[in-house]
Amino acid sequence: MYQSLSADERERVGRFRRIADAKRSIIGRGYLRVLLGWAIGLRAEELQFEYDEFGKPSLAASYGSELQFSVSHSGNLVLIALARGRSVGVDVEMVRTNIDVTDLANRFFSTAESEKLAALTGPVLYEAFFACWTRKEAYVKAMGRGISLPLDNFEVSLLPGETPGLLATKPDPTEASRWKVLALNVGQDHQAALIAAGQEWRLTCEMLEGAEFSNST
Ligand SMILES: CC(C)(COP(=O)(O)OP(=O)(O)OC[C@H]1O[C@@H](n2cnc3c(N)ncnc32)[C@H](O)[C@@H]1OP(=O)(O)O)[C@@H](O)C(=O)NCCC(=O)NCCS
Repeated sequence: MYQSLSADERERVGRFRRIADAKRSIIGRGYLRVLLGWAIGLRAEELQFEYDEFGKPSLAASYGSELQFSVSHSGNLVLIALARGRSVGVDVEMVRTNIDVTDLANRFFSTAESEKLAALTGPVLYEAFFACWTRKEAYVKAMGRGISLPLDNFEVSLLPGETPGLLATKPDPTEASRWKVLALNVGQDHQAALIAAGQEWRLTCEMLEGAEFSNST
């Protein structure tokens, strides 16, 4: 996997202080290269990436803009989403109960989202918070604007049983209907969401196992 990385990717791996983070980065970028190479008929190590002003990676312009992707890591999981001809964003978060989710929601989420969360307690509160977070992050990543897109500028669904979705957007309220959101089932320790432009698409999932992580470092 490491052999397929470019010099700048290897340099980035070398900057991680925790071995587990370095391994996750190698595996994430390595598998991304394998999947993209397979999709466009090139060897993994041949691929070149570009980065925009917000740090969003994309395939170099010489490959065209048809194939889009998004990557997310958390805990022992790496999610890679590929899409043809449409923007895509994916996010996974390990559900952590040692953080003040009410405070985070009040600071970063929209008023409507914070109010919905304020009515919840116990495990459901954390589940809903991370459902909200991953749906918002997936949208931010699909838009490619990083932290420059204010998280309280749009609203997602978050309650258990509520259909995953982008409920409201500002300043253009019609933007919300241009995206479809899915909640991904990646086990009870994580929440994950995928968003892609348009409604007429279908998700196909593959789980690749065998890459080992250690959280102890
Ligand atoms: C960098 C960011 C895209 C996501 O970061 P993150 O959730 O910490 O990390 P993830 O593992 O989910 O995503 C990292 C991947 O996103 C991709 N990425 C980086 N910048 C990106 C951008 N501007 N747009 C889309 N994708 C981006 C990269 O592929 C990266 O993986 P790689 O470094 O292995 O190539 C950005 O949205 C961010 O910093 N968000 C934090 C916002 C925040 O404060 N959220 C708190 C909510 S309470």
